[in-house]
Amino acid sequence: MNLKERAAAKALTYIKSGMVLGLGTGSTTAYFVDMLGEKVSSGELTDILGIPTSKETAEHAAKWGIEITTLSKHPRIDIAIDGADEVDPTLNLIKGLGRALLREKIVEIHAEKFIVIVDASKMVSRLGTRDALPIEILPFEAEAHIHWLNALGCRAELWLEDDGSLAITDNGNYLSKCWFEEGIPDAYNLAQKLSTRPGIIEHGLFLDMATEIIIAKEGGVEVQKRKKTNSGV
Ligand code: A5P
Repeated sequence: MNLKERAAAKALTYIKSGMVLGLGTGSTTAYFVDMLGEKVSSGELTDILGIPTSKETAEHAAKWGIEITTLSKHPRIDIAIDGADEVDPTLNLIKGLGRALLREKIVEIHAEKFIVIVDASKMVSRLGTRDALPIEILPFEAEAHIHWLNALGCRAELWLEDDGSLAITDNGNYLSKCWFEEGIPDAYNLAQKLSTRPGIIEHGLFLDMATEIIIAKEGGVEVQKRKKTNSGV
């Protein structure tokens, strides 16, 4: 097993029959969905309901016969499992380099437990030091948002596909990547600014959301827990 698989395997030990699960997006979560699917197929886990955070994950879960539901039918999620792009020492996250940050945040705020599965390469001393911060923006006047983001002190660009076309999310929006030369000095302040700008739909700062981080390292799997648990919505 590689490190991502080991993190996913640890997360699977938290799952019990009858749970409503938030299903994240990305390569680490894909391992988790495969492992969950095997247990559901074999009948070892029963009455599992999944709320996917992307079309990709919805299709993946459906292939395994995992029953899909919605937040309107099941607004209380027992556990959401997802990967992350960066995790800081206070368990704050950057997510969204798999392009699914908006649906991920919508689903994961409903989770009583939000368990993040990563390999050790995702652990950082400060958010924004490993890669870009992804931001989902409305296509209307998208360039204006890129100018505004650059004025915030990062280098912001529209996210392009390899062929030069604009990356489009499951929600029909554009994405921006924002690079911070020395990381994000105050993630709460930045999140506040991004949240109040019309046309910026959502950002990849997931602050005070993760309840546990499962970190797979060469030496074994470590679990870090936030002291306060989420109440769910
Ligand atoms: C998806 O939009 C992201 O938030 C992913 O959770 C994140 O990019 C981690 O992906 P990997 O598990 O593929 O590293």
